[in-house]
Amino acid sequence: MDENIVEQIRKFVEEECKKPSSKYGYEIYPFHFVLVHKYSKLLAEKFKADVEIVELAAWLHDVGSIIFGRDDHHLTSAKIAEKKLKELNYSKEKIERVKHCILNHRGSQLNKRKSREAQIVADADAMTHFDNISGIFMAAFLYENKNQGEAQDEVREKLIRSYNKISSEAQNLIKPKYNAAMLLLK
Ligand SMILES: [Fe+2]
Repeated sequence: MDENIVEQIRKFVEEECKKPSSKYGYEIYPFHFVLVHKYSKLLAEKFKADVEIVELAAWLHDVGSIIFGRDDHHLTSAKIAEKKLKELNYSKEKIERVKHCILNHRGSQLNKRKSREAQIVADADAMTHFDNISGIFMAAFLYENKNQGEAQDEVREKLIRSYNKISSEAQNLIKPKYNAAMLLLK
């Protein structure tokens, strides 16, 4: 039996993360992609969005940053998504809907989201920060050479920014983790 398209795309993204050339190593797969997918699917089911579109966009939204780096990764990811989904004979209309989510998932594209699915992927992307606090600390210590106090401030500020930019539905879901983080990082 043919594997469904979501599973084929998931495998494609995981394979890209496993390559030695992956800009973020393999860790981005379990610590980011899997979480974005989890929250995207949960929100899509809860708010009656198109689950398949959301799942595909969740797996593909950052694929460009693994292959080419973070700059313009919404554009590179959309391009890779289009090519890959075409190869799998996915319909043109649905490819456009997946691309819309990918192109508008970044905070800077806040006002350009025209579909419920795009809002969900953006929300899920920001929600993952609350499940990966150790990763934000690692970035502050390792890549930005912050000391302990600075790192703590940075993590807290980042979580506040993430919380403020997601929809109120997503805020409600993540609120216990937000409150816990604020208590611990005061
Ligand atoms: Fe992401």
